[in-house]
Amino acid sequence: MDVISLGPGFAAEIRGLGLADVAARDDAYGAVRAAFETHSVLLFRAQPITDELQIAYSARFGPLEIAKAASRGEGTPFSILTNIEPDGSLVPPGHKEALRARANQLWHTDSCFKDPPSLASVLSARTISPIGGETEFASMRCAWERLPVAMRTRLGSAYAWHNYAHSRSKIAPHLASERERASLPPVRWRMRWQNPANGRDSLYLASHTYAIDGVPDSEAQALIAELIDHTTGPGQTYLHHWEPGDVIMWDNRCILHRGRPWPGDKPRHMVRTTITATDADGLAEMRWVRPAA
Ligand SMILES: [Fe+2]
Repeated sequence: MDVISLGPGFAAEIRGLGLADVAARDDAYGAVRAAFETHSVLLFRAQPITDELQIAYSARFGPLEIAKAASRGEGTPFSILTNIEPDGSLVPPGHKEALRARANQLWHTDSCFKDPPSLASVLSARTISPIGGETEFASMRCAWERLPVAMRTRLGSAYAWHNYAHSRSKIAPHLASERERASLPPVRWRMRWQNPANGRDSLYLASHTYAIDGVPDSEAQALIAELIDHTTGPGQTYLHHWEPGDVIMWDNRCILHRGRPWPGDKPRHMVRTTITATDADGLAEMRWVRPAA
């Protein structure tokens, strides 16, 4: 297996091994898992992708999330991001899927608004737009390491609140349906996620994050925005231009990502599987602990 660096301090392309090797062989899984812990974003090119192969690969890393209420793919392990209707036509501007695509253009980590949250996402390109539609990544682990010590100390013991409806409301007031709101109540996580495989800390927040315990709302929202800017600033990101057969896996514990716009008259169809975090991935330490009196 060859590992070719792609981004500033994170992200790598894996060559010499593919998704089918990882699905079939423990040694291939071990090598790719180690690369995932180190590089946080892994690219595989020219994969013979099918739903079955994506599941077989993803399930190696942990239990799979079932897609949330009211999303395409609801009740299955597939989150489908598409502007193509079942009859082959494209959704009009202002359609819920078009608004969802805009919400995906906010910097976020997948499923921080769920309990349990996500370890990783695997995204395969099934139909790509000839222009735009890139995915951009930034490392909250690298961002953590660039923070002043005093800020790391403060955030290391802080807890933040995450809500799916919060990020959706930035795009359109009712983008999160009543059913989605009811099934996804706000959740609270520590703002530092330590990777148990290597002991490296990461910031943990997203566009879904709306409050910090013990911090007035306006101050918390300003700090959240400042930390996202700090993470995603010039020179800190990896922008991926999709090619047919590309599959990317990223670590939701320490990676922010966002979709980039593409022309509404170009079809684009992406399929995501999402792996649930477990205590072995450092989740137990993320849960709120009542402060000592
Ligand atoms: Fe996402």
